[in-house]
Amino acid sequence: MKLRWRVPALGIPLLLLLLFATPVCAQRLPPIATPEHYDLAFVVDIGGKRFEGTESIRIRIDQPTSRIVLNAAEIDFKEVTIGAGTAAQRANVVLDKTAETATLTVANALPAGPADIHIRYAGVLNDKLRGFYITRGDKRNYAVTQLESTDARRAFPSFDEPAYKATFAVTLTIDRGDVAISNGRVVSDTPGPDPGQHTVKFATSPKMSPYLVAMAVGDFECVEGAADGTPIRVCTQPGKKELARIALESAQEILTFYNRYYTIKYPFGKLDMLAVPDFAAGAMENTAAIFYREDGLLADSATASVATRKDIAATVAHEMAHQWFGNLVTMQWWDDLWLNEGFASWMETRPMAASRPEWNLAVDEARASHRAIDLDSLQSTHPIHTPVQTPAEIDALFDTITYQKGAAVVRMIEHYVGAASFRDGVNAYLQAHAYGNATSEDFWKTIAKTSGKPVDQILPTFINQPGVPIIDVSPLTCSGATTRATFGQERFLLNATGARATAPVWQVPACLKAGTAADSSACLVISEPRLTLDVAQGCVPWIFANAGAEGYYRTAYAPEILRALAPHVEDALSAPERVTLIGDEWALVRANRHTAADYLTLAAGYGREPVSGVLGDVTGRLGFIHEYLTTDATRARFEAFVRSMLRPALDRLGLTFLTGLTGSPGRRGDNDDRRALAAVVIDALGTIADDGDVVRQSRAALDRSLAGGPALDPALAGSVVQIAAQHGDERLYDALAAAAARATSPGERSLYVFASTGFRDPRIIDRALQRTLSSDVRTQETARYMAGFFDNPVARPRAWSFVKTYWSALEPKMRIFNAGATLTRSLDAFCDAAARDDIRAFFDTHRLPGVTGALNQTIERINNCIDLREKQTKPVSDWLASRR
Ligand code: BES
Ligand code: ZN
Repeated sequence: MKLRWRVPALGIPLLLLLLFATPVCAQRLPPIATPEHYDLAFVVDIGGKRFEGTESIRIRIDQPTSRIVLNAAEIDFKEVTIGAGTAAQRANVVLDKTAETATLTVANALPAGPADIHIRYAGVLNDKLRGFYITRGDKRNYAVTQLESTDARRAFPSFDEPAYKATFAVTLTIDRGDVAISNGRVVSDTPGPDPGQHTVKFATSPKMSPYLVAMAVGDFECVEGAADGTPIRVCTQPGKKELARIALESAQEILTFYNRYYTIKYPFGKLDMLAVPDFAAGAMENTAAIFYREDGLLADSATASVATRKDIAATVAHEMAHQWFGNLVTMQWWDDLWLNEGFASWMETRPMAASRPEWNLAVDEARASHRAIDLDSLQSTHPIHTPVQTPAEIDALFDTITYQKGAAVVRMIEHYVGAASFRDGVNAYLQAHAYGNATSEDFWKTIAKTSGKPVDQILPTFINQPGVPIIDVSPLTCSGATTRATFGQERFLLNATGARATAPVWQVPACLKAGTAADSSACLVISEPRLTLDVAQGCVPWIFANAGAEGYYRTAYAPEILRALAPHVEDALSAPERVTLIGDEWALVRANRHTAADYLTLAAGYGREPVSGVLGDVTGRLGFIHEYLTTDATRARFEAFVRSMLRPALDRLGLTFLTGLTGSPGRRGDNDDRRALAAVVIDALGTIADDGDVVRQSRAALDRSLAGGPALDPALAGSVVQIAAQHGDERLYDALAAAAARATSPGERSLYVFASTGFRDPRIIDRALQRTLSSDVRTQETARYMAGFFDNPVARPRAWSFVKTYWSALEPKMRIFNAGATLTRSLDAFCDAAARDDIRAFFDTHRLPGVTGALNQTIERINNCIDLREKQTKPVSDWLASRR
């Protein structure tokens, strides 16, 4: 809600009171003027860690005013004038640190119409990874920007809201030996003004939001390519550009794909991508100048695993998708952030799904949907569309709901209206709002219109309501020639606390697949709390109510349907459908509707699962059961069960995966997913089942490779290193630290750095914890590094003590984008009341901005775990006993 500026009835004292009592309202700019164009000139002094800015903003004033309010933070204003030519007046500047605004006031009111603001100012190249900041490279420092969400105001005074789109012309004065990258191509490069400097002028950008401005200065080297006539470069610190080949090839393929998918071809003239040593997010979609964390972009193309290639391609595809969804058409306000992030997350798998079917991306999508559904099963979730005002609230929205629920809902609608019709709708939406802004409503109205289907009824129930529906499928009945079923829907909650006053209802597009006639799949909309429908011709024994696994809902089947379906899981269900079936079953266990024994019976049948992603889901939950639902009395038997389930898989894959862990040429031809499958199997055998063979072989292979012998197979390296660390000694710890220090690729370095959180020996754990505060662990990695300890049952309590003891040193690192939430979420591995209460009490007095939601989710998850342990430990031991 915005404050109105003339409210005479309230009187001035009350207005003042209101202003002070509601500081969040003051976070929005008052609608006084609209920017049209920015001229931005910077003199960048990397050595002195500062910059000088000269800025002209051409604005349009709506009504006569003597006051303009814009955003600014940590900016030292030198001189401000407003108005053109002789009419220019000096402005007085009043800063509001909390609201991050500068109010410019002139003596004589400015008339409605155009005006120019001229500002001379100075700023710091900070070390906080936001605004215009310093990053520490291997040999020297660099200056780069990261302006989303609300940090353009730290680089230049601006109307720093996404709806204030304008054009930007950037000029950078930099050291003679350096180059610069920005949104436009270089239009001139002249020596001076000082002898040691040159001045680079970039082409004016198209109309865009201020958070998309980008600048980078340093001695970057680039590899160059092109697609459809658009030049593409990937740039790095000196000596690393050869690691940019995978990214360059991906970008070329992706741009070609997008130019076919969208009716608007890539509109920004050139595309630069830059690997930045210190980068708070994984990557940032600045218009035509995308910035990445080094380890998200660079890898050795001779050795990179499929997982690494997938990650690079997905990251590049995500940021490139934003060039349309985000940069060309931008959400009106951050409350519709999903129009950016949900769409880019949906689109990021599209290009590679088309060209690399063997990557099984549909399985990754189904797993990503389940991550969102898991979070959405908590009381402490939030709707996709959530009102936000402050920078901390805006940052907190960059979460699994916005990204993965957003993507899942888009996928569901695409499936429901059909891919071709959806694409027409997407293009109509982009055409209608190009170089402008849009809302959720704009989107669903367009898709409803182009598809002729009630998308405008369906989408609001998923965008504006929190939570996920569960569809209950009744026993099937058959009369005459048709099978019927009754579908019930309600909100699915892990910790159900009784019925609420008004139960939400969704308009659920559901696609059904019926037993025996496997190709008979039909879609319908479940629009009522209860609905009886014909589901198949003839009498069928089972139906699967989420065909294609594209629906954002859970399903609970009548037991007789599950029994009839069970023998057909492998041949009648696709890999993503298998992910959905077993994921829903596990959720029903966590909600105490089914027992862990039901889950284990189903899981035991996945021993022959051929797709790595599906099996990885199953073994992940076996790991959970192993840790939380077994006791000293039952653990060995559970481990024996996991061995009996997976040893045959390992034998089938061939023992070479064990004995020949070190990349023998014979295995090069192995199908990629077979190797990924072997990694999952080895991981589960080594970390859950305590398989002596696997543990010994892993350590031996790692020792050989660290000693300069054959390198680990990249597909298996993650599993091998983790298993070895879990069982490792101090000698291994030191060897991994040394290997991290001399690693030549960012992926190799992070593999070794993060492995040090996995040891079980308390002395090693303490050494590894101390490393958190050293320069071995970069600020941007700290939260993820800490999360590694919380994942490790032996290290968990020590890590929590460490956090509390060293909070004053850790806290600044937790203010980096997402770090506080990542740390808070990783605490959900605790499963006892004492830890829960201690966590709550600690964060009550040690507040981090924007983590309230994450903290509530963690508390709720811990409570669920406590409850589950209480109720499901016995069913697990009974199930194990019954197998003997
Ligand atoms: N727009 C975001 C980056 C971002 C997020 C900047 C929050 C500022 C605040 C970018 O498109 C993004 O989503 N990056 C992801 C990686 C991506 C491959 C999913 C990230 O940083 O995690
Ligand atoms: Zn994004």
